[in-house]
Amino acid sequence: MAKPAEPAEPAQSAALAGKHLMLGMTGGIACYKIAELTRLLTKAGATVQIAMTEAATQFITPVTMQALSGRPVYTSQWDARIGNNMAHIDLSREAQAIVIAPASADFLAKLAHGMADDLLSTLCLARECELLVVPAMNRQMWSNSATQRNVAQLRADGVHVLGPDSGAQACGEVGDGRMLEPHATFEAIASFFQPKVLAGRRVLITAGPTFEPIDPVRGITNRSSGKMGFALARAAQQAGADVRLVAGPVSLPTPWGVVREDVETAQQMYDAVVQSANDCDVFIAVAAVADWRVDQASSQKIKKTAERGAPSLSFVENPDILATIAALPSPPYCVGFAAESGELETHGEEKRLRKKLPLLIGNLGPQTFGRNDNEVVLFDNNGLTRMPRMDKDALAATLVREIARRLPDTSLIS
Ligand code: CTP
Repeated sequence: MAKPAEPAEPAQSAALAGKHLMLGMTGGIACYKIAELTRLLTKAGATVQIAMTEAATQFITPVTMQALSGRPVYTSQWDARIGNNMAHIDLSREAQAIVIAPASADFLAKLAHGMADDLLSTLCLARECELLVVPAMNRQMWSNSATQRNVAQLRADGVHVLGPDSGAQACGEVGDGRMLEPHATFEAIASFFQPKVLAGRRVLITAGPTFEPIDPVRGITNRSSGKMGFALARAAQQAGADVRLVAGPVSLPTPWGVVREDVETAQQMYDAVVQSANDCDVFIAVAAVADWRVDQASSQKIKKTAERGAPSLSFVENPDILATIAALPSPPYCVGFAAESGELETHGEEKRLRKKLPLLIGNLGPQTFGRNDNEVVLFDNNGLTRMPRMDKDALAATLVREIARRLPDTSLIS
């Protein structure tokens, strides 16, 4: 199957609205990624105060970063714009988190040893907030035992290390060390700010449509975009869960930190879910699974011939993935989704009881397929709760909280 396309825009995260971030840039070719990261962070409502090392200014100008962040950029400890000449104190006190991106091998070494010989290292040492570093370097520099020692020390000191990624590097080599892409860095930062209502929980999610072959070139599918399932996977990961996503054929990028398995048919989705079901605490079935598959799909392309005329297809029923998992002797907490074309209240509750689910999330109309917003109703043992119309990311974060508060042994959240 084709690799999913990278998105033009990552999901917006409400968690970043109103947050004040200090974004520290150190020297490395990955500085170009920070222009896009800054745009994404400010678009999500965060205030981004940039400080650059002397080396970073060799890769991208402070003027560019000032224009994108909408704030003056600081590069020197002796900047006269700070009245009391205490840039390292003032700037670090304002921030709710300091993010160093890209974080060079040299800067990680400085941080690990508590050095403070320029503005950025000094304000990291003087901070009262959390520190996140996004390493970016050549693969040999990353795997060097000195760098690995420094990273281990930083982790032990409570510093959050995001990445690095693996792949082609600016130097022409391939391996670990390249900086996370801007949208992945953005999601990792957003994740950091989310309340961890699913900490320690393992969540399995199905998403997207299935594809049932007729012959090697034709098949039957549906209009599910996968957006709701992917948004839930992202929100569950951001809420601290270990998330496994079993996805039908969709063109969506994998949310940061989520383990993804791609499948095509309902039977493949069933097999993938059954294999992981004993290792999860929560199962959320968002996929629009085909109820039937073509009986004995042709192994050869069906040719158009005047004698035969139009082919007729016969169907066999696919297994019901959700009902199977809910019927296990000790099932995970099972959540179903149902898109109904009418009488949602009757059909939703009837479906919940038929599939033996503690929670079913229903909406009216297949017209929600592909849309960026959704309006749902929650059905559980206590009756029915209507949620307001929200975009799918905000709705996913809300649903994650609703699921978390219903889980056994979870301390209730407000
Ligand atoms: N589901 C599933 N496996 C199937 C069919 C459905 O896991 N073979 C799950 C869906 O992911 C969803 C829920 O069951 O969470 C309800 O899906 P829906 O298609 O509405 O239910 P059906 O039982 O197929 O009922 P209907 O006759 O309305 O299609």
